[in-house]
Amino acid sequence: TSVSRGEYRHYMQKEIFEQPMALGRTLQGRLPLDDAPLALGEKTMSLLANARAIRILACGTSYHAGLTAAYWFESLCRLPCRVEVASEFRYRDSYPMPNELVIAISQSGETADTLAAVHDARERGFDGVLAICNVDESSLARAADAVLLTRAGPEIGVASTKAFTTQLAALALTVLALAEREGVRSDMRQALLRLPTQVEEILAMDSAIEELAAAFADKHHALFLGRGVHYPIALEGALKLKEISYIHAEGYPAGELKHGPLALVNEEMPVVAVAPNDSLLEKLRSNLEEVRARGGQLFVFGEDGAVDHGGGMRFHSMPACHPFISPILYVLPLQMLSYHVAVLKGTDVDRPRNLAKSVTVE
Ligand code: G6P
Repeated sequence: TSVSRGEYRHYMQKEIFEQPMALGRTLQGRLPLDDAPLALGEKTMSLLANARAIRILACGTSYHAGLTAAYWFESLCRLPCRVEVASEFRYRDSYPMPNELVIAISQSGETADTLAAVHDARERGFDGVLAICNVDESSLARAADAVLLTRAGPEIGVASTKAFTTQLAALALTVLALAEREGVRSDMRQALLRLPTQVEEILAMDSAIEELAAAFADKHHALFLGRGVHYPIALEGALKLKEISYIHAEGYPAGELKHGPLALVNEEMPVVAVAPNDSLLEKLRSNLEEVRARGGQLFVFGEDGAVDHGGGMRFHSMPACHPFISPILYVLPLQMLSYHVAVLKGTDVDRPRNLAKSVTVE
């Protein structure tokens, strides 16, 4: 491949560290400092202007970006939003709401299931297709009515990192456009503009996170917990770990622990929790106590004072942040953790067994 790894041992590591730059590019020129309208391109803006509901179609990591954005669309823009795994959408009956916009998310723009789902959505009468895509001249970009490019640059590692966070940034821009259409004025623009700097700050924790990896390398299972908009982040953390370290991992909304996964928790089961300072923190704390009481090994990422750490918990402190961008920040330690676990295990980090960077057949 023509992209060099430079000083990095793996493409995945390089791509993790490219995130501040990639995010800067995704936001550049699109987010004016003053009250001027967002500059997302005329076609994108007009699709958004007409949307009264949103259906997101995607696969894999891109699907997790969609799940995250659904929380934003519903809470910040008050728009109904459903997210579907593209390979399922194409094989079930589903009907659009009036003015329901499709947002198709794909790094490559070549995922066969996502392309087919977009085609089906058109036949079923959905009102326009916006692609969030990393490749300008891809099949998805051509099939859509408008494209919002993520500008992450080529992503070589099969496990997606910078594509995910730039998808979230691009989605955040559409969320802002729609929220502002609804008359919401807030400090969300400023929060988004600070994103690349805050990402930089978190990436500086890499060596501290590397130290946690040893606790995972000999384990067979791991659980990732989050609540609300951070539940999809837990799903993405679990996906990263299983893809490259081959450790079986599941993401769960922490309140659902008691309905099943708690039965699995013991000393052999690391449990990773993202505990940002939001309205669900108190609830999450009591979920974590349930894990601790059963001897589970907890690894918690949160702001100072988020949880009462002590016996049975490794706590990792995160900088304070605006709630809007918090999911984009909290996925970073999970990416770094998976990377270091995989390196310790000696797997082929950039080309994990049985997986392809882009799945162009069904
Ligand atoms: C494959 C890759 C994943 C990716 C998914 C969707 O499974 O291994 O990393 O998330 O495809 O790819 P896309 O290019 O559509 O985002």
